[in-house]
Amino acid sequence: MYTIILGAPGAGKGTQADILSQEMNLPHIASGDLFRQALEARTEIGLLAKSHMDKGELVPDEVTIKMILERIDQSDCASGCLLDGFPRTLHQAEALDKALEEQGKSIDKAIYTEVPNEELVKRLSGRRLCRTCQTPYHIVNSPPKTPGRCDKCGGELYQRSDDREKTVKNRLNIFFAQTLPILDYYKKQGKLIKVHGNQGIQEVTREILSALKHQCQPEQSGEALRFPSTGSGHASIAEFILSEAKVLPQNDIRGEQRQNKW
Ligand code: AP5
Ligand code: MG
Ligand code: ZN
Repeated sequence: MYTIILGAPGAGKGTQADILSQEMNLPHIASGDLFRQALEARTEIGLLAKSHMDKGELVPDEVTIKMILERIDQSDCASGCLLDGFPRTLHQAEALDKALEEQGKSIDKAIYTEVPNEELVKRLSGRRLCRTCQTPYHIVNSPPKTPGRCDKCGGELYQRSDDREKTVKNRLNIFFAQTLPILDYYKKQGKLIKVHGNQGIQEVTREILSALKHQCQPEQSGEALRFPSTGSGHASIAEFILSEAKVLPQNDIRGEQRQNKW
């Protein structure tokens, strides 16, 4: 299952992709994280990306598309992944479709998390990230257990240089001018799911899962979408969502799902 998480800077793409990735056992591929890792390694791509990221501009399509297509060609993405921050232009969306199509694959859903601008600015100014595993925190909304340290790996937390007010403004303008139009691209393909991002982190996750549940019914898709065996013991998205939503008792899930919502 190839799913895209779309949203403005600070909308919670990374936060949601991180949670969904663990539960569904799908790799979380974030273009911004890949650029930041490349910069840490002082590669040519990293240095080039930094010159654009610092101004809040998009990194040129050719560089970004090549980096992401090479990443999703790796074996861990063979049965799917969660894409965070890519695509961001119509050209990127078309290149992604073309590359997947060549392998007989396609994007399943594009999830757009909508959040008002004032809230985006608050989220970005309070955000801190783990330098080692990139997990996002917020000094008010989701603080780490130990100040300045990542709950998951103990890594150091830092503030992104592009989270300064002036750069944030530019990032938001670019999002509305260049990325928002791709919502229409996925809407026309019947793949767009819109969720309310201006609620708690868990509530947003639930809304995404509930929307996926309603849009991936077997009557519509042939059969419930399946994931590789997951760390959380859920064999499919159907099973995972049903157990989360407590729609049916666990042992009813496989046998009853076709007669019920699935
Ligand atoms: P990227 O790293 O992708 O940044 P972005 O899109 O600006 O998005 P963010 O990572 O800032 O926000 P997010 O939506 O992930 O929010 P998060 O979950 O962290 O890209 C950076 C740069 O790289 C770009 O500007 C561009 O230069 C370049 N780039 C990347 N991809 C590119 C592409 N495809 N093409 C060209 N250039 C590209 O959450 C934010 C904060 O809010 C956190 O503190 C979090 O804890 C908190 N929070 C999250 N959810 C909630 C909630 N529901 N309630 C309260 N707080 C919340
Ligand atoms: Mg992010
Ligand atoms: Zn960490």
